[in-house]
Amino acid sequence: MIQEYNNYTQEDFEVWRLLFERQEQNLQNKACKRYLACINEMSEVMRANEVPNFEKINKVLLAKSGWSIHVVPGLIPVEGFFQLLAKKKFSASTWLRKKSQLDYLEEPDMFHDVFGHIPLLMDKEYSAFAQKLGEVGVKYIDNPEIVLQLQRLYWFTIEFGLKAGETQTDIYGAGILSSYGESKGIYTTNPEIKPYNFSSIINQPFRTDQIQTLYFEIESYEQLYDSLNEFDRNMQQQG
Ligand SMILES: [Fe+2]
Repeated sequence: MIQEYNNYTQEDFEVWRLLFERQEQNLQNKACKRYLACINEMSEVMRANEVPNFEKINKVLLAKSGWSIHVVPGLIPVEGFFQLLAKKKFSASTWLRKKSQLDYLEEPDMFHDVFGHIPLLMDKEYSAFAQKLGEVGVKYIDNPEIVLQLQRLYWFTIEFGLKAGETQTDIYGAGILSSYGESKGIYTTNPEIKPYNFSSIINQPFRTDQIQTLYFEIESYEQLYDSLNEFDRNMQQQG
């Protein structure tokens, strides 16, 4: 599949601009510094007044970190998703929510996939973790228990992760970065925030149909990579 850029309508451009401008401003004092630095570094190809053009983004991403966007029709089976991650290809859809649904989404759209997920792939340590998650997923794809554990890990980190900042918790999970309501809610609704713990996370069921009530806070992206690497080594020894 490819992105049919000419098919985007005026409404698509307007929706992208509304979402981008609102969240760019809202995240200034909420997103982790590395995310803000990355999206700033991509500002030529990821900005409010242009629906993202994957070809242009891929040039910047590939040059910086070796990642690229891989177009998918929507959510894809976990096996293919892990295979793509392992090859530093991030799955993204090309459709955008309607103006009447700015805050209501049943499935991730391009704003979630691109604005939420892509910038941090420019970051070396985050990128190493994301790729490793794909590699470990491919390795254990025939073990449903491990696959579920890795899906939980993905959920509580790449989708809904928080990171200790200088004075407060910062957001790095794409599900929060791309949600106006949830990114505000972190600081106003007093959700439960636990320190990152690999074994707690892989045993923690999650809900996809509501705003999260529990988050895990990491100290660094190295911590993510190291914990996953250790899990992989332990599995191999048991194997
Ligand atoms: Fe996502």
